[in-house]
Amino acid sequence: MQGLVGIATASAFLQILLSFAAVGGVSWEEWWTYDGISGPAFWGLINPEWSLCNKGRRQSPVNLEPEKLLFDPNLRFLHIDKHRINGLISNTGHSVIFTVENETRHHINITGGPLSYKYQFHEIHIHYGLHDQFGSEHAINGYSFPAEIQIFGFNSQLYSNFSEALHKAQGIVSISLLLQLGDLSNPELRILTEELENIKYGGAEMPVNRLSVRGLLPDTDYYMTYDGSTTAPACYETVTWIIINKPIYITKQQLHGLRRLMQGDARHPKAPLGNNFRPPQPLHHRAVRTNIDFDLSKYPGKTCPSMHRDMHYKAKTWTQY
Ligand SMILES: *[C@@H]1O[C@H](CO)[C@@H](O)[C@H](O)[C@H]1NC(C)=O
Ligand SMILES: *[C@@H]1O[C@H](CO)[C@@H](O)[C@H](O)[C@H]1NC(C)=O
Ligand SMILES: *[C@@H]1O[C@H](CO)[C@@H](O)[C@H](O)[C@H]1NC(C)=O
Repeated sequence: MQGLVGIATASAFLQILLSFAAVGGVSWEEWWTYDGISGPAFWGLINPEWSLCNKGRRQSPVNLEPEKLLFDPNLRFLHIDKHRINGLISNTGHSVIFTVENETRHHINITGGPLSYKYQFHEIHIHYGLHDQFGSEHAINGYSFPAEIQIFGFNSQLYSNFSEALHKAQGIVSISLLLQLGDLSNPELRILTEELENIKYGGAEMPVNRLSVRGLLPDTDYYMTYDGSTTAPACYETVTWIIINKPIYITKQQLHGLRRLMQGDARHPKAPLGNNFRPPQPLHHRAVRTNIDFDLSKYPGKTCPSMHRDMHYKAKTWTQY
C-alpha cells in the first residue's frame, strides 16, 4: 500500500496534469487509466465529478462469495429479445465496445430478472487480461476469469437515452458474462472478435451486422444480482448487476486478437490494450441475491444440501490455469 505521502504527491502531480488538460482542451476521457498515477485508486481524486469512485459505498465490481448468496424466490427469469441488430465495434483506448446503431427501430428489450422496469440494450464492453490469470472485473470466491463481457441497457420507461440514465436512479442494467478459455468460442462472440484486426488502434471503429445479444448468453436461467456502479469513471451508483451463473467460452486465438490491440493511435500506439479491469470493491453489507434455489430438500434424489451442487462456478475448474 502507498503511504499518505505517496497519495499526496500523486494528487499534487495530478493537479499539474489537470491544468495542462484544461489549457489543452483535452477530453476528460484521456485522463484516467487502469494503472499508475491515474489508475483506479486515483479516479475519485482526478475529477470532482468522479468522487464516487473513491467515496462511494455501492461500487462495482465485487468479489462474489457463494456462501453468502441469498436465495430470493421473487426473482424471475431474465428476458432478452432474440432478434439480431447492427452496430459499431470500437477500440476506445480503454476498452472494446459494441454500440447499437442509432437508427435501430427494433430495440432489444431487457426485462424480468430482478428488474422493475423495461431496459433497452445500448452497448457491450469487453474487459480482458494480458495474461490468462486476470481479466474479469467480477471475481467468484477470489478467482478471476481471463475476460468479462458486460451487456448494458438503460431504463427506457423512465429515461430517454443511455447518457441520461447513467446518473439517474434505476438507470442502468448490466448483464455480466464471465469468460473461460475453451476450444470452441461462443458464435456471437466470434462475430465481435472477427473485426478486431480492423480496430487495432485507439479511436478505430467498424460496423458489425446481425449480432444476437441474446445469443451471447450461456444456456442457463440462473444468475446472481446486486446493486452497484459503473466500473469506470464516473462510477455512478445506478447499475443493477446481473451475473450469469455459467461461463461462456473464448479461444486462445480470440484472446490473442484482443491482446494485439493498442491503446493509442497508429503514430503513438502507447501500450497494448488489456488489463482493463477495476479491482473488486468492498460490498459494505449489500446483499447479493440469486434465483438458484439451494434448498435441496425440495429435490428428491439429491441428498447433500450443499449450495455448491448447483453452482456452475467451482474453484476446481478455475485453478486449471
Ligand atoms: C450515432 O450518431 C452519432 C451522431 O448523431 C454518431 O456520431 C455516432 O457514430 C452514431 N453511432 C452509431 C453506433 O451509429
Ligand atoms: C421493446 O419495447 C418497445 C417499447 O418500449 C416496443 O415498442 C418494442 O416493440 C419492444 N420490442 C420488442 C422486440 O418487443
Ligand atoms: C439524452 O436525453 C437528454 C434528456 O432528454 C437530452 O438532453 C440529451 O441531449 C440526450 N442525449 C443524447 C446523446 O441523445
